[in-house]
Amino acid sequence: MPEHPRICDYGDSSYRQDFWEGRGRDYEDAVERQVLARLLPKSGRRLLEVGAGFGRISAEYSMYEQVVLLDYSLEQLQYARGQLGDGRYIYVAADAYRPPFQPATFDGATMIRVIHHFEDVPAVLGQIAETICAGGRFILEFANKRNLKSMLRRLVGRNSWSPYTLDAVEFVELNFNFHPDQMVAEVSALGFEIARVVPVSWFRLGLLKRHLPTSLLAGADGILQRTGWRISPSIFFDLRYGESRERGDFLDVNDPVEIFRCPWSYAGLVREGDSLISETGIRWSIRDGIYDFRKPLNDD
Ligand SMILES: C[S@@+](CC[C@H](N)C(=O)[O-])C[C@H]1O[C@@H](n2cnc3c(N)ncnc32)[C@H](O)[C@@H]1O
Repeated sequence: MPEHPRICDYGDSSYRQDFWEGRGRDYEDAVERQVLARLLPKSGRRLLEVGAGFGRISAEYSMYEQVVLLDYSLEQLQYARGQLGDGRYIYVAADAYRPPFQPATFDGATMIRVIHHFEDVPAVLGQIAETICAGGRFILEFANKRNLKSMLRRLVGRNSWSPYTLDAVEFVELNFNFHPDQMVAEVSALGFEIARVVPVSWFRLGLLKRHLPTSLLAGADGILQRTGWRISPSIFFDLRYGESRERGDFLDVNDPVEIFRCPWSYAGLVREGDSLISETGIRWSIRDGIYDFRKPLNDD
């Protein structure tokens, strides 16, 4: 493992246009929103969306008083901000391996279509866990290597890797599929309790998506989601901290700056013009209303 794990940098990539808009993925989008609606609580204080990208699903979190969108790509966040505005949203450009938040800042967190870009899963999940308060919830989606299609391909000799082994498979650089048992082990080791497991996206087949209405496929998906069978291409975990877990109470502050800490020194931050400065003198910029914690201004 390299000193700092590799980062899948989306920068100003055309992910939105190339993957979502008019690309025949209305069904995937619909079922992910459906599951979120099912799993999210009726109300909440402050939610962290890890790897929010261009904010595709960020409007689903309207039951939270405050929503923090974190992504490594400033450009994706700029687009999200253009769509969602400020109001309840806070935009943070940062590396999820080094989230710039005080402990127990969030009573909710989500990570959808993101963990497949992480080669060091315990490291990133451990960092996210630190930011969630006692009793907090975490909705984690991951790409499942042991899905029906990969098992069938393996059976007819068209899959070089085994869907059944616990190790992650890197099918394209920094794109991993995970075995459900591996993910169960990872989250359990961090003290999460698994409240629900929801298998999703059962009908991810071009032929079906072209010929059947999205609403019909999404309805059928909703039925299969309730089986809990862990053989679909995408799986959602609904996670909670147990009572036994040693974890701070929710950080209740009014000024958004108070939720931050310096990701390098862990010191608190104060605002100074268009930047945030730590007690140790490390300065982070605020660009176009986005807090930028990727690289300090005075990193020479
Ligand atoms: C496939 S996109 C998913 C975006 C959004 N969650 C969605 O479902 O539309 C993955 C996102 O993860 C972000 N990402 C990847 N590695 C990251 C890291 N180390 N820290 C923060 N964000 C990261 C990318 O910038 C990208 O926006």
